[in-house]
Amino acid sequence: MKVLIVGGGGREHAIAVSVAGSKRVDKIYCAPGNAGIEQIAECVPIGAMEFDKIVAFAREKAVDLTIVGPDDPLAGGLVDELEAAGLRTFGPRKNAAILEGSKAFSKDLMKKYHIPTAAYETFDDPEKALAYLETAKLPVVLKADGLALGKGVLICNTREEAEEGVKTIMEDKKFGSAGNRMVVEEFMTGREVSVLSFVDGKTIRIMSSAQDHKRALDGNQGLNTGGMGTFSPSPFYTDEVDAFCREHIYQATVDAMAAEGRPFKGIIFFGLMLTEDGPRVLEYNARFGDPEAQVVLPRMKNDILDVIDACIDGTLDQLELVFDDQAAVCVVLASDGYPLSYEKGFPIRGLERFEKEEGYYCFHAGTKRTEKGIVTNGGRVLGVTALGKTLQEARANAYTAAGWVDFDHKYMRRDIGKAIDEA
Ligand code: AMP
Ligand code: GLY
Repeated sequence: MKVLIVGGGGREHAIAVSVAGSKRVDKIYCAPGNAGIEQIAECVPIGAMEFDKIVAFAREKAVDLTIVGPDDPLAGGLVDELEAAGLRTFGPRKNAAILEGSKAFSKDLMKKYHIPTAAYETFDDPEKALAYLETAKLPVVLKADGLALGKGVLICNTREEAEEGVKTIMEDKKFGSAGNRMVVEEFMTGREVSVLSFVDGKTIRIMSSAQDHKRALDGNQGLNTGGMGTFSPSPFYTDEVDAFCREHIYQATVDAMAAEGRPFKGIIFFGLMLTEDGPRVLEYNARFGDPEAQVVLPRMKNDILDVIDACIDGTLDQLELVFDDQAAVCVVLASDGYPLSYEKGFPIRGLERFEKEEGYYCFHAGTKRTEKGIVTNGGRVLGVTALGKTLQEARANAYTAAGWVDFDHKYMRRDIGKAIDEA
């Protein structure tokens, strides 16, 4: 069959590698893709938000399945448009992608259906938000309602910071229209775990757990990024945590969406915080995590196209997911200065090595092919993943492999997976 993948980051490269491993695939297209994806797919210069062009392309090539990777086209309704054109598509429709697209929506849903999460208030009016913050307990968390590349969350330790935060989100509109509304949330403490799942509208199948490292610098310092590295499974995701989440969070979320007339088909990513009072939902995403996909998908033994078909056809109850016992660690190689400003266009050396080594992956995020060869083309450039018998072994392997590639202004965190030692 012919598969089109929409997106062009490390997540989409990981999806493409899984699809390429399917017995059922004949041809992969990717819009727009990148220099890594290009090695296993035909990349076409169509952006993920160019809906008309994507629909036209999928029709012209008689694509059998389109997989939408990133949040923006999902929230914007690309799945609806493809389906309206009679094209088979994997991902939530617009009315379900709102689970990620609006924090106010997801918080209200959790409250209505008693899904454990932090206490919160929603504001449309900055004056009312400021009045509320005069007496709110500190620290306090401010969140722009809409999509903001994972950057629309401010943790404020003082009243001054909170006032400044309201200004940033609601008045200066640093995150654009995402800040027309704002959620003010209770601050929680604990370990964070990412749990990805496949959902067919009624049944949910959980993938293996993972942990991201969102801050730019070692020791979880510096600015929030899209994610600097991941490991899977998380040793903190115990059987007890799993049982609690199955009882109170996973199926409850799927049932809540169905009850609201917004059946969810696709990937739900649960961002969880393991607090002293038990697991709480920090956020939902309506897609694979990036770089969570880069450690979870290489461990999944199922044929991904079988799982996707079951999601689309509503037969996920007849299928079990199987994960490799080996652990995986992904270290992101970024450009110095990310997530603020950074330079692009530096040649990348050493990529060939990955073709020869079993158990190692080099997922491309921001790369481009030019006459000079493959060059850097983004803040996050590559995601180097390695497997290992234990998390410690996978981490050692990932850092060894991170040394095989080089480019000017290469930057990585040195402490990805350090938390493993505390488990
Ligand atoms: P989100 O995009 O909602 O996942 O938020 C980004 C990051 O902010 C999370 O990964 C947490 O580290 C942090 N965060 C979000 N909400 C809270 C909260 N209520 N309490 C503490 N930290 C939070
Ligand atoms: N790694 C976090 C995310 O994809 O949102």
